[in-house]
Amino acid sequence: MSKTATLEIDGKKHEFPLITGTENETAIDIKSLRAVTGGVTTIDPGFKNTGSCKSAITFLNGEEGILRYRGYSIEELADKADFLEVAYLLIFGDLPNQDQLDKFHADIKSKSLIDDDVKKIVDAFPKSAHPMGVLASLTSALTAFNPASVNVDSEEAMYNSVVKILGKFPVLVAWTMRKKKGLPLDYGDNTLGYVENVLKMMFKQPNEEYHLNPILVNALDKLLILHADHEQNCSTSTVRVVGSSHAGLFASLSAGISALWGPLHGGANQAVLEMLEAIKEDGGDTKKYMAKAKDKNDPFRLMGFGHRVYKNFDPRAKIIKKAADEVLNDLGVDDPILNIAKGLEQEALNDDYFVQRKLYPNVDFYSGIIYRAMGIPTEMFTVMFALGRLPGWIAQWREMRLEKEPIGRPRQVYTGENLRAFEPIENR
Ligand code: ACO
Repeated sequence: MSKTATLEIDGKKHEFPLITGTENETAIDIKSLRAVTGGVTTIDPGFKNTGSCKSAITFLNGEEGILRYRGYSIEELADKADFLEVAYLLIFGDLPNQDQLDKFHADIKSKSLIDDDVKKIVDAFPKSAHPMGVLASLTSALTAFNPASVNVDSEEAMYNSVVKILGKFPVLVAWTMRKKKGLPLDYGDNTLGYVENVLKMMFKQPNEEYHLNPILVNALDKLLILHADHEQNCSTSTVRVVGSSHAGLFASLSAGISALWGPLHGGANQAVLEMLEAIKEDGGDTKKYMAKAKDKNDPFRLMGFGHRVYKNFDPRAKIIKKAADEVLNDLGVDDPILNIAKGLEQEALNDDYFVQRKLYPNVDFYSGIIYRAMGIPTEMFTVMFALGRLPGWIAQWREMRLEKEPIGRPRQVYTGENLRAFEPIENR
């Protein structure tokens, strides 16, 4: 007999089915709640207890610190796969064979040109503009240059839209940085791998050859894989909700980029570095900042600590911490910021406040240190996160459309005024 949950309201019992996922997570299916109860709804600010969809893409167990894409552990993927293989896996469900991967890459490259008029839009931004704002705008602008809406019932049309955005997005990412640095806006080099091409597009000086550093290629590849998906987080939920109105892929992605920008989400990597810099400038006293983070009258939070879902070590943070040590070592960088980071981490891991609340370093505590060693400006960190998250957003948007999910439209509990009579202005 299938399991149910019983809800009693005003002495009347209502039964709701329990559904179980492939990793045995249980959910109460309340699809019929309003209909059977005569309009009772649920309230769950921040959706802490709400499953918004069924998804076969990413499995995350925050209590045990497990993250898997399509059943493969993040540790194994970061070690053995490259970013494009992971993108294919997330979007289409299985790892590609060599022919599929070669075709996928060739198709992405064939779609990587962007209408030269987009450069005029880039030109119009001030150099001081935050690259995340520029990236969201340029991604949205792609809708104007590619106005045809995707026929989601056609596998070919879906595939074409996927390779199109995977081809164009790295160019936009590079342009947001080149704009800031006053460098000419170049197109990529189709003889290179996906990640190699990203680095060249970002760093190539107009008057010099660009030499790829395999250490940096490897580090960026790993970082992008670790950021590639994270089930129903804020930006991914945004992409799914915007897409659920049948807005196009580029418009949905642009909304996701804006959601990612905030310091409580993807913007944390920039905020971490700024915090570490501030601690360094202030004499490197980590204890002072630990005390601030614990003081409920002080809005300061230890950036890069805590996570909505992980109440254990973020598995990505473990991999990144090791990568940060390797990259800094390989590049011969001795960064005092890293020592401050290590000091904060040790103190937090041994501090009752952080231990009781299960606040561990998250993925962004260390990613900024690597980006910095790579020569990427602090304001670009969240843009790099967006580049990594792109396949996840695409995969989730595609799944949502293929599953024909209804438009995302939550309910509320109204707490405003009851009906009142209009007062003429002279009586107010
Ligand atoms: N520093 C100090 N205290 C913290 C921190 C922190 N970084 N994070 C949470 N807390 C405390 C809260 O004050 C709260 O304490 P209380 O129970 O005494 O009131 C308790 O821990 C629970 O915190 P919530 O905010 O309720 O947890 P929530 O799940 O809503 O928030 C979040 C998670 C937003 C990530 C939070 O931990 C945070 O702000 N961290 C810093 C920002 C950050 O690193 N964000 C990146 C997340 S990872 C990503 O998006 C890739």
